[in-house]
Amino acid sequence: MVKPRSTELLDWYNNNARILPWRVPPLKGKEVLLPDPYLVWISEIMLQQTVVATVIPYFVKFIKQWPSVEKLANADLNSILQAWSGLGYYTRARNLHKCARIIVEQYDGGFPNSEEKLLMLPGIGPYTASAILAIAFEKPATVVDGNVERVITRLFAIKGRTPDVKSKIKSLASELTPNHRYGDYAQAIMDLGATICTPRSPKCIDCPWLGACKARALSIENYLPNRSPRKKKVVRKGLAFLVVRTDGAILLRRRPEQGLLGGMMEVPSTNWVESGLLNMSEAPSGLDWQELTGKVMHTFTHFKLELKVYQSIASKGHELKGLWVLPEKLEEQALPTLTKKIIKHANLGL
Ligand code: ADE
Repeated sequence: MVKPRSTELLDWYNNNARILPWRVPPLKGKEVLLPDPYLVWISEIMLQQTVVATVIPYFVKFIKQWPSVEKLANADLNSILQAWSGLGYYTRARNLHKCARIIVEQYDGGFPNSEEKLLMLPGIGPYTASAILAIAFEKPATVVDGNVERVITRLFAIKGRTPDVKSKIKSLASELTPNHRYGDYAQAIMDLGATICTPRSPKCIDCPWLGACKARALSIENYLPNRSPRKKKVVRKGLAFLVVRTDGAILLRRRPEQGLLGGMMEVPSTNWVESGLLNMSEAPSGLDWQELTGKVMHTFTHFKLELKVYQSIASKGHELKGLWVLPEKLEEQALPTLTKKIIKHANLGL
């Protein structure tokens, strides 16, 4: 078997790099044109847990709204949560704000270019630090995300279970990293994983590492990576209470800053529980409730949620805690997907 060489991947990237709004075109070993670290940082945070196609419109809008780290540092957190609405993992947005403030206050608006300093910033872990170092600063760093793990696992036919083989993958990935074009290489291997070495039906015929791929030689590319079986998610249940005012406004409340969907707006609901009876005692008081048919289902990282929705009309004089939002103003709020689903379930807008 021939050994894979980084030049094969870099040559492939010269002609196949995806055009993405946070990217500069491949260097092709000539001009040194580095992207703005601010754009690299925002894109890498958005791309954690989220696919490129989903990220693109969010990224474009976000950068229009806050074109620099200074602007972001001065932004109001709620407007950042609103911009993040629907992307999930809202801690990312909160950390982005904290991090922007630190960059402005402690680094005079310039991103640090050492791993040690990057890792001290909120929301920046080993993956993001490596991506910023390689892509924004052309520094030697090996980026290993899910795509890269799959590529390396197949290339070297690593049969052990993920995540047990993580450190092996990391060291092979780092051995393969060239000592130039760090940013291009990092993006090339991620693009290869996203477009050629895909989880299902990889397009091996178009792969620059076809001749070097051990999994392909053994015809086991479709069986790798060998994932540990996913744990079945527990199901939690709850009741959601949609209160509509006579002018059509919906009652929303802000979730606590800490915890799941921290700081986002929600339709009032009971606690979400795995067992036990759900009853109406937690509903806003003094209202008549109508049970809507069907359920709202939503999947979080660690559990599935099933909500029954109850609706009520609040007449004048009802003093209820929360924020009344007219349907046409809902887009201005920091609504997570779950809240949108509940409102859509009742055909009340969005
Ligand atoms: N996934 C995460 N970051 C990426 C990047 N910079 N290029 C391509 N895919 C990515």
